[in-house]
Amino acid sequence: MTVSERRSVLSVEDVSVRFGGLTAVSGASFDLRAGEICALIGPNGAGKSTLFNAITGFARTASGRVVFGADDITGKRPDAIARLGVRRTFQNGGVLKKLSALENILTGLHCATQRRIVGNILRLPSAVEEERSSIARAEEVLRDLGIADLRDAKAEDLSSGQQRLVEIGRTLAQHSRLILLDEPAVGLSATDRANLGALLKRLAADGVAILLVEHVLELVMAVSDRIVVLNHGQVIASGTPEAIRNDPVVLEAYLGNK
Ligand SMILES: Nc1ncnc2c1ncn2[C@@H]1O[C@H](COP(=O)(O)OP(=O)(O)OP(=O)(O)O)[C@@H](O)[C@H]1O
Ligand SMILES: [Mg+2]
Repeated sequence: MTVSERRSVLSVEDVSVRFGGLTAVSGASFDLRAGEICALIGPNGAGKSTLFNAITGFARTASGRVVFGADDITGKRPDAIARLGVRRTFQNGGVLKKLSALENILTGLHCATQRRIVGNILRLPSAVEEERSSIARAEEVLRDLGIADLRDAKAEDLSSGQQRLVEIGRTLAQHSRLILLDEPAVGLSATDRANLGALLKRLAADGVAILLVEHVLELVMAVSDRIVVLNHGQVIASGTPEAIRNDPVVLEAYLGNK
């Protein structure tokens, strides 16, 4: 099955976001299918993070619609959207410094329902089994990101690049149909970037849809099925990495903003 035949996971329909007199996102539309990696690129201030915020409930849409699977999530709160299975990282996110790398990733996997809490206190077999599989999943992600040896290191003792990997790992470890990553490659070495790219590809092969905001074009070109280009809040181009690389409108937007 080709990507275009798969079910739609995210549909952004004519979305605008305004801050006072500033239109940060202006009538943006695109969609994302299961198993697709789509990069959202554009110059600084183009509106990429704002569009992420509009999708995940952190910014109010002035107009337009955001549909996740069968659910219209326009105007829903961030926690409600997260509960539906939308995961994201933040451009300037962070780790819990006093926790180990493994524990940081586990915080993403533990959802504190009452049933779980009671199960954990009573050490019910189901809770023990769930804990075991969470740890296995967290260890797998640490391995995928090339930081298995940092499992028990306290986050505050890690380099900023390693902390970034832990933070990304926390998001990627969670079961989800849609993952949004805001500039994950900042501060990562070439090897880290390659590991991250390979992990994104594996998640996509499992059917996860990934929206990637990234300035590191090498990573974008290596992993994306499609690229959407934003400039001054508007989608100015959308296409395969090949088409975007050679699009004069895109080159103009980048050069014109320098
Ligand atoms: N909370 C806010 N209040 C007012 N203006 C904002 C707010 N957030 C963003 N903006 C403005 O909206 C525009 C888009 O910003 P945004 O952060 O979405 O850009 P970006 O594409 O993510 O840029 P970068 O590549 O630098 O991260 C900018 O002009 C920015 O100054
Ligand atoms: Mg941004």
